[in-house]
Amino acid sequence: MTELVLAMDGPAGSGKSSVSKAAARRLGWAYLDTGAAYRALGWYVVQRGVDPTDAAAVIDSLPDFDYRVGTDPDGYHVFVGEHDVTTAIREPEVTAVVSAIARVPEVRTFLTGLFRDIVRHSEKPGIVVEGRDITTVVCPDAPVRILLTADEAVRMARRAAELTEHSAAHVGEALRRRDAADARVVDFMNAAEGVTTLDSTDLDFDQTVDAVLAVVQNVVQKE
Ligand code: DC
Repeated sequence: MTELVLAMDGPAGSGKSSVSKAAARRLGWAYLDTGAAYRALGWYVVQRGVDPTDAAAVIDSLPDFDYRVGTDPDGYHVFVGEHDVTTAIREPEVTAVVSAIARVPEVRTFLTGLFRDIVRHSEKPGIVVEGRDITTVVCPDAPVRILLTADEAVRMARRAAELTEHSAAHVGEALRRRDAADARVVDFMNAAEGVTTLDSTDLDFDQTVDAVLAVVQNVVQKE
C-alpha cells in the first residue's frame, strides 16, 4: 500500500501532466494520469458506436471496459483490452466526447474505484495522481495536495505550442469550452481547504517541478 500520495488537480493546459510526470520521475514514485482513463473510456464508447451523450448506454459499456495502465512515468502506456490507445486517446475525436462522459456520475464512481485500486496496489514509495478531482474526491486524504494553476492566456499559449497543427485561436477556444464544461462537474479552479495553490504563470517548467517538490519535501519532513 502506497502511503505517500501527491494529489494534483488543475485545468487543461496548466501543465499538470508533464509537471506531475517529471515530479514522479525525480521522486522515484509511480504516476497516474486519471484524465487518460476518461479519454480511454471515450475512445471505447466511440469504438462501440455508442452515443457519448446517451448516459444509459455509456453506463452499460462500463462492465466490459477493460482498462489497463502501468504507473511508470517513463513509457506510460494505456490499454483497452488488447489495444494500445496511448496515442489514439489524444485525438480530437476523443477530446470532443470526453466531457460528456465525465459528467455521468456512475462513470465517475466507477473510475474513482479503479484509481483507488491502482493507488492501493502501487509498490513504489509514493504515487503522483493527477486530474480534476483528485484533491477533493479520489484522494482527499493525500498528505500532499496541490492545485496547479496558470493564467488562461499562458495556458492557451502552452497548449498551442504543443499542438502545432492547430492555430492558437482554435486551440484557445476549444480549451475554454472544455474547461467550462468540465468545471460544471468538478471545481478544479479553486483550491479546496488544505490544498496548496501553485500558480505557474511566471514559472518555467523546471521551476514548476522544483516548486512541487518543495511542497512534497515540506510535508515529508514534517511526517
Ligand atoms: O486532463 P485531460 O485533458 O486528459 O482530461 C480529459 C478529460 O477527463 C477532461 O475533459 C476532464 C476529465 N477528467 C475528469 O473529469 N476528472 C479527472 N479526474 C480527470 C479528467
